[in-house]
Amino acid sequence: MTKKGEVAGTSPTKVDLKDGETYYWCACGKSAKQPFCDGSHKGTEFMHLKWDQAGDEPRMLCNCKQTNNPPYCDGSHMKLSGDPAVAKGGGDDFD
Ligand code: FES
Repeated sequence: MTKKGEVAGTSPTKVDLKDGETYYWCACGKSAKQPFCDGSHKGTEFMHLKWDQAGDEPRMLCNCKQTNNPPYCDGSHMKLSGDPAVAKGGGDDFD
């Protein structure tokens, strides 16, 4: 099983992904620019997840870092305890 990053938020962020853009999703949970990487993983065992987006599409990107389908939310955040002490960052709630 792959180790997962720390919980940066307890809900995903909706992002309008743009065709042809390169994105870097934060896997460690330490970035201040959630759900994206700001380089804070340096010195950890984690690496960002990079992808080249094909097509414009809105997607829910994971902030809890517990997803089994990174960078996308798969609902794993709903299994978290909900303890606000473990949530250090902010994702947007589903509307
Ligand atoms: S925010 Fe991580 S699975 Fe939903």
